[in-house]
Amino acid sequence: MSNKHFLHISDYSKEELWDILNLSKKVKAKFHNREDHKVFHNRSLAMIFAKPSARTRVSFETGFEWMGGHALFLGPNDIGIGKREAIKDISRVFSRYNDIVMARLFDHDHILELAQHSSVPIVNGLTDYNHPCQIMADIFTVWEHLTDIDNAKIVYMGDGNNIVHSWLHLSMRFPLDFVCCCPEGYEPDKDLVNQASNSGVSKITISHDPVSAVKGADVIYTDVWASMGQKEEAEEREKAFKNFQVNENLMSITGKDTLFMHCLPAERNREVTDGVMESDNSIVFDQAENRMHVQNAIMIMLSEKWK
Ligand code: CP
Ligand code: NVA
Repeated sequence: MSNKHFLHISDYSKEELWDILNLSKKVKAKFHNREDHKVFHNRSLAMIFAKPSARTRVSFETGFEWMGGHALFLGPNDIGIGKREAIKDISRVFSRYNDIVMARLFDHDHILELAQHSSVPIVNGLTDYNHPCQIMADIFTVWEHLTDIDNAKIVYMGDGNNIVHSWLHLSMRFPLDFVCCCPEGYEPDKDLVNQASNSGVSKITISHDPVSAVKGADVIYTDVWASMGQKEEAEEREKAFKNFQVNENLMSITGKDTLFMHCLPAERNREVTDGVMESDNSIVFDQAENRMHVQNAIMIMLSEKWK
């Protein structure tokens, strides 16, 4: 891999991203066959969480331990990154103990700073700006279900948030028909939208009309209307987003057999109905499972570079 950290999908070439997906398939099969893959014997992964998590924590910890290593959980009250101690000091201290550091932070600049001063790979486990491991697991899941992902129509319904930014990064490497359908005022970062459009790899559309946006969708994807750190805006957002719910009616007007995806955690009957979550077209638990396999592949690729 040409990069030592995993911070943004767009830091990697299309070929490198395919290498990750192909390796994910192999490690997933090994995990399912209960085979050993102890490539991280005597290695450690530090996991820094400034925000809550279920999937990211459990998938990284379980995955790294399956690969023979030891994973350490550091929660929001443990190290006080950027508060008790400078980020660049944490970077250098952890580089002396650990082989990989995964971090979930608020400010994206903080993960960039962590990476700048680290001599071991830093993996982005979500910031306010993006969530690259999630979208790598998502495209792997789409690949499993559709087999051919070239120009797949992915319609993201909801807030133009960190999830959308990682889809846009992916769209600069893999050809997609990507639509972000959001209320006015909740669009993703304008510069990134322009960059993704200008890259000429994918078709990028920003829409404010759910009914026309979902026509021909291979996938409808949604996320919470108020992300971590925005919960005090929840009431105001609920009003703005009320017409953007993914419900049975929206799923039925695509003209296709459309898959439903959500990064989870979901607020059922808010951004998505219980019925859609539980429907046969919902692949949300495949997505959640694939977090672990894809992250395992990412950590293997990063550490091979660094051995
Ligand atoms: N999708 C995801 O990152 O879930 P957690 O916030 O539970 O880690
Ligand atoms: N946009 C959500 C994603 C959670 C995985 C958040 O940042 O809270």
